Amino acid sequence: KKITLSVIKADVGGYVGHSNVHPELLEKAREMLSGHPLLIDSYVAHVGDDINLIMTHETGRNNGEIHKLAWDTFLACTEVAKKLKLYGAGQDLLGDAFSGNIKGLGPGTAEMQFEERKSEPVIIFMADKTEPGAWNLPLYKMFADPFNTIGLVIDPNMHNGFEFEVRDTIKNKKIIFSTPEDLYDMLVFIGATGRFCIKRVFNKETKDIAAVSSTQRLNLMAGRYVGKDDPVCIVRCQSGYPAVGEALEPFTYPHLVAGWMRGSHNGPLMPVSMNEARPTRFDGPPRVIALGFQLSEGKLVGPQDLFDDPAFDNVRKQANNVADYIRRMGPFEPHRLPLDEMEYTSMPQVTEKLKDRFIDLNK
Ligand code: 13P
Ligand code: 13P
Ligand code: MG
Ligand code: MG
Ligand code: MG
Ligand code: MG
Repeated sequence: KKITLSVIKADVGGYVGHSNVHPELLEKAREMLSGHPLLIDSYVAHVGDDINLIMTHETGRNNGEIHKLAWDTFLACTEVAKKLKLYGAGQDLLGDAFSGNIKGLGPGTAEMQFEERKSEPVIIFMADKTEPGAWNLPLYKMFADPFNTIGLVIDPNMHNGFEFEVRDTIKNKKIIFSTPEDLYDMLVFIGATGRFCIKRVFNKETKDIAAVSSTQRLNLMAGRYVGKDDPVCIVRCQSGYPAVGEALEPFTYPHLVAGWMRGSHNGPLMPVSMNEARPTRFDGPPRVIALGFQLSEGKLVGPQDLFDDPAFDNVRKQANNVADYIRRMGPFEPHRLPLDEMEYTSMPQVTEKLKDRFIDLNK
């Protein structure tokens, strides 16, 4: 019997501004999901202004009814957001009609189907004020860096390495890299986080799914600025996968990610507890939470709020120091994103407005 774990997320209205989700929206989402006949279990979480629907069921990935349930839940929450006049009500719902699959409509999805092991610890990472490429560095460390994951060295079940499915989000292509042998080739691409994203990781030996992320790119889909994608990522742990602590360890370094204010700045990714997942400084800095669950016949036993640990105090402090440092650059790169990434934000209108004032010196 196979279990499917689906995480579907959207921002359907911020409280206040882009910092949080109003409790009435979370209540509405819980009401929509709880006891639903299609679901084994569900948990509604939020990080910043994004609602994350965590659902277990037996209907497989890309199931129309599950996607419809998520879509209807976001629509119902949007109604509440409109009533409260929350900021950007329905922000991430780009399509206006559901037709079988939520992909391309705005919400982010990460889904995996697997045979539940004797013990099935999973971590769901959820971020706000950033984009899917933010997972590249931590996923690389978890599954390919022996200085992070000692299991790659000493656990015979991991020693052969992992396979990474990498997506080109601009050209809409995918490629599988096998590590460690393809390591250097893979880094050429996944280092370019604005374009290439790690979609899935598989255990090389068993071919079983190890991790999956949401790779939807809102601004590319919409062709205009609609904030950042604020991605999610599911990681299975232990017994052939990274230990829970190995999956968390990459987040002890606040690497720079794209997002933050107006989706247009680089800033440090700060790991926080659920209670601290309300970014306000310059609408950030970008946040990530990690909720741990033990699955039991599809039931979500948990969550454990994994970054709610003083061992992550130093990285939070370091993230604040990096934020202080980089904020002083104001509208200058590399704090502000480079022009090609601004293409999908505010740039096109300004360029259009000034086009007659640019004098071509080649003529
Ligand atoms: P315990 O002895 O606490 O179970 O730790 C086992 C382990 O593998 C930790 O990574
Ligand atoms: P969100 O994508 O989280 O809504 O952020 C948008 C924004 O403009 C923050 O300043
Ligand atoms: Mg928002
Ligand atoms: Mg958000
Ligand atoms: Mg967003
Ligand atoms: Mg133990």
